[in-house]
Amino acid sequence: MTDRILILDFGSQVTQLIARRLREAGVYCEIHPFNRMDDKAIRAFAPKAVILSGGPASVTEVDTPRAPDLVFKLDVPVLGICYGQQAMCAQLGGTVEGSDHREFGRADVEVKAPSALFDGVWKPGGQYQVWMSHGDRVTKLPPGFRVIATSPGAPYAILADEDRHFYGVMFHPEVVHTPDGGRLLQNFALRIAGCRGDWTMKAFREHAIQAIRAQVGRGKVICGLSGGVDSSVAAVLLHEAIGDQLTCIFVDHGLLRQGEAEEVVGLFRGHYNIPLLHRDAADLFLQRLAGVHDPERKRKIIGATFIDVFDEEAHKVGGAEFLAQGTLYPDVIESVSFSGGPSVTIKSHHNVGGLPERMKLKLVEPLRELFKDEVRALGRELGMPDSLVGRHPFPGPGLAIRVPGPISRDKLDILRRADAIYIDEIRKAGLYDKIWQAFAVLLPVRTVGVMGDGRTYDHVCALRAVTSTDGMTADWYQFDHDFLARVATRIINQVRGINRVVYDVTSKPPGTIEWE
Ligand code: XMP
Repeated sequence: MTDRILILDFGSQVTQLIARRLREAGVYCEIHPFNRMDDKAIRAFAPKAVILSGGPASVTEVDTPRAPDLVFKLDVPVLGICYGQQAMCAQLGGTVEGSDHREFGRADVEVKAPSALFDGVWKPGGQYQVWMSHGDRVTKLPPGFRVIATSPGAPYAILADEDRHFYGVMFHPEVVHTPDGGRLLQNFALRIAGCRGDWTMKAFREHAIQAIRAQVGRGKVICGLSGGVDSSVAAVLLHEAIGDQLTCIFVDHGLLRQGEAEEVVGLFRGHYNIPLLHRDAADLFLQRLAGVHDPERKRKIIGATFIDVFDEEAHKVGGAEFLAQGTLYPDVIESVSFSGGPSVTIKSHHNVGGLPERMKLKLVEPLRELFKDEVRALGRELGMPDSLVGRHPFPGPGLAIRVPGPISRDKLDILRRADAIYIDEIRKAGLYDKIWQAFAVLLPVRTVGVMGDGRTYDHVCALRAVTSTDGMTADWYQFDHDFLARVATRIINQVRGINRVVYDVTSKPPGTIEWE
């Protein structure tokens, strides 16, 4: 079995980044809410080490989260980060107190003693930048611990019990603002916990193929293709595992980008020779969406219609027992909610969630352990073309949510042409891979213009481009002005129906990436 680290989540905003940093070091890990792993589950997971994440609560208050006591009795290394450090100290006999000196943001720690945690990275006497985010602090060490680094606001910035291999840091090593943080985590995983660091895409591919065969046996599997990276990689992996037991279903809702449907069909039917049912359902979707303004209603209609059509196609396959989905790890991680209430729905995401129950299908989710960039690496490992594997994410409801207000075939055509020009220019400028997502939006606003000697009264096109690591937060991309001018001129000259182009300079939050 691959060496694995268990991350217990106390609800920090950045817990996922701990997993990212470990995976970058070739170490497999999983995040679980601190209160959803009983002793049996922890033992079955057989971690080589445990990491306790940060979190928003305060150890000084009653009824705040604690790590399962078993974690400290497994005889494996434990690393507590921020809240995790404080919970560990409180549980092992130390004292944590509230402090007036809250510390958020950049700070420098000074290393006081050598430690396996610092090997090859930090030296005693040196000062190093870290990212702090805490209110409380440890004021009395638990037995066996000593301070190995301090900072002006946190005299107990890093604690260690080198005998038991327990470590606690007051800062966040997982964020990029702690420049050496990834290497500290790597030291913890490889040197201290002794993980082999052999989690590679090649290993994953072999392991995933065996797992798919074991799950599916001789059964038939259907897989919905959307043209996006995740479902495509899942389909190619499944095909490699089970060959023609797999049938892909491509529901073309007429809301795809220029040339996309042809590309999907060409690649899967032509190149991979994967059995594919292609259903052009554009008329049905457009008919059901006619006159609908509200973004949530649009999303719901698209989701429901997708399921209806997919269901019809799936019945044609006959005898399918399994439904394959390109679910990724970020969709699987259950986050810890301290309020107890459901969190606000910003947008209802479109997926095929209702299908398995309706069709009595069992789910196959071969990517559910992977992050987006790992899926891309797997696609490359499987020999898939870069044009597909490196493609920007595209939302399930497609262009319908990039035409605010009611959609029509005409508007979609105009948008497709503008979008293709924009993406073409981004590729030509060599910027495509620097951007998380770039797309055009067709606004339901007309403005007056002048072209040649004539008056125009046409649509406004908004351009959006953002950088992001996971789509959860995003920053608008700072194109140079010549680039924007070039795109605007091309769109206005070449796309009939648009006479004005604007650029969206909203980050997320407060905006979202898509406009609806
Ligand atoms: P927002 O607009 O919420 O988008 O900031 C975050 C990321 O999710 C994508 N997105 C979707 N993906 N189904 C999807 O599969 C959806 O319904 C959906 N809505 C938004 C969006 O493109 C961005 O990458």
